[in-house]
Amino acid sequence: MDVDSGLPMGQEKATSVQSMFDKIAPRYDFVNRVMTFRLDVRWRKKTVKSLSLPPNSIVIDLACGTGDFCCELEKAGINPLGFDFSMGMLNASRSTSPLTQADVLKLPIHSGIIDGATCGFALRNLTELPAFFQEVSRVLRKGGRVGFLDVAEPENRFLNWGHHIYFDRIVPKVGGFFSDKDAYSYLPKSFAYLPPYQEILEMLENAGFGNVKRQLFAPGSVQLFSGEKI
Ligand SMILES: C[S@@+](CC[C@H](N)C(=O)[O-])C[C@H]1O[C@@H](n2cnc3c(N)ncnc32)[C@H](O)[C@@H]1O
Repeated sequence: MDVDSGLPMGQEKATSVQSMFDKIAPRYDFVNRVMTFRLDVRWRKKTVKSLSLPPNSIVIDLACGTGDFCCELEKAGINPLGFDFSMGMLNASRSTSPLTQADVLKLPIHSGIIDGATCGFALRNLTELPAFFQEVSRVLRKGGRVGFLDVAEPENRFLNWGHHIYFDRIVPKVGGFFSDKDAYSYLPKSFAYLPPYQEILEMLENAGFGNVKRQLFAPGSVQLFSGEKI
């Protein structure tokens, strides 16, 4: 990743992301619901549906945070396993699925045994996206499905303007009021870590995924990357 915005990189980024999420964990779910007008729940449901996996499949939720994706996967009859390196986020979870403290770049899982993987709003928080996709590819069986959600920037100029007003000015104030000002000021800045979507699709292909595609939600503020292990 080539980010020239004064944001931390490498181990410094990982350490600051981990301690930031430890800090905001207790109010993370509440602030998410307020900031997205509960739409985040709908985006996760759509992602789970897009996996098209049968009940009893085993799906890993990577950078699971407080386990919201695990809850949606459970509702679909899927057996989720969550992984995150922030103990604060894992402790704040209301999910009943098994959650493990781990770095998602080095998963404690044997190769080729998992049916699917999800990841919600964490791609931009990772230090090495290609390495992450390679690691997911390693643990998935052939035909395994992925659904990765993250923020996006609307292409329409008017929507883009509204999106920036909301994310750059309103989100830090709302997050600061209910939780932590610095953490929610980082949120709009962290968008700079995310490569253009074409590069993400290419990274997925290079990691061994086929049928890769990108879908937009909300209108154009959230993107879902999906694919199938070949
Ligand atoms: C914005 S939160 C998303 C939480 C959850 N996926 C959701 O949809 O609400 C980002 C999460 O990524 C986790 N994270 C970032 N880098 C990680 C890494 N290398 N290994 C494990 N977890 C990581 C953070 O601890 C945090 O819980």
